[in-house]
Amino acid sequence: MKKKQNKIAKDTNNFLKKYLKSQKKTDLMVPMKYGLLPGGKKIRSKILVDVGKIFNVNYSNLIQIGAAVECIHAYSLIHDDLPCMDNDNLRRGKLSTHKKFGESTAILAGNSLLTIAFEILGQKNFKLSDEIKIKLITLLSECSGHSGVAGGQFSDLNFEKKNIPLKKIVEMQIKKTGKLFSFCCIVPLIISKNIKHYKKFNEMGSKIGLLFQIVDDLIDYKGKTKNVGKKTNKDKKIGKATLISLLGYKNTIKYKEKLKQNIFKTLDKFGDKASDLKDTIEYIIIRIK
Ligand code: IPE
Ligand code: IPE
Ligand code: MG
Ligand code: MG
Ligand code: MG
Repeated sequence: MKKKQNKIAKDTNNFLKKYLKSQKKTDLMVPMKYGLLPGGKKIRSKILVDVGKIFNVNYSNLIQIGAAVECIHAYSLIHDDLPCMDNDNLRRGKLSTHKKFGESTAILAGNSLLTIAFEILGQKNFKLSDEIKIKLITLLSECSGHSGVAGGQFSDLNFEKKNIPLKKIVEMQIKKTGKLFSFCCIVPLIISKNIKHYKKFNEMGSKIGLLFQIVDDLIDYKGKTKNVGKKTNKDKKIGKATLISLLGYKNTIKYKEKLKQNIFKTLDKFGDKASDLKDTIEYIIIRIK
């Protein structure tokens, strides 16, 4: 798993480096690269490739789409760390983008990463039909905006220091984190024109994203800043609404296990072809950062 993961992360970063190099140099490029390239796990690209394996989708197309997703993810992290949001000074073992370059620069670098994602998908030399490109751009916009990442982040901040029921917390986490994972799980179906499994993979993506966020919350609860590369033990202090704050640590572990079983049940139907995705899900659970 680790070897495959490293290759995908490297290929995604290489694509992004080459892409940025082909553009006119600007002063914003430095903070954009800072927040985008080093240190990230590129797990969303890995999921794209894993699902792509089930449906026999071309690898380099998936790397290009993964690069676009990673731009949106990086933008969301840069903004997530801002003082008006989670106010975090450490990200991926380094100063957060706003600590390094200042707040206004971090906001604009984030905006630029968000928009460049759509630019990457709309490229003329990207070997997919215009119809598919439009579908991807539309879906990625939906997953990133008010009914996806941005909407989920809004609820996450709005829920601080309040008693929020389970259903609402799950909904918020699916929006802020799950939607991008759903996108990654659906893309291979869009490209291979497989409508039959669309709903199933959409839902499974939400569940994988939810699982990912639950583990992120567990890492915040138990992990050491030194290992994680971001400040831990913060969610409780800020009063974040998480499954841990609602159900407690032990019940959150149980919830996580059930969720994993549920995802694996869906994947069992796809036999050996789903083994890479299963490995990634195991990794999501046991990771320490
Ligand atoms: C962190 O995401 C934010 C969440 C959605 C929980 P990752 O853990 O994927 O961050 P990087 O890209 O590896 O730093
Ligand atoms: C962030 O969740 C999810 C995003 C959409 C960026 P967190 O706020 O828990 O992410 P970290 O812990 O700061 O990486
Ligand atoms: Mg946050
Ligand atoms: Mg945060
Ligand atoms: Mg967190």
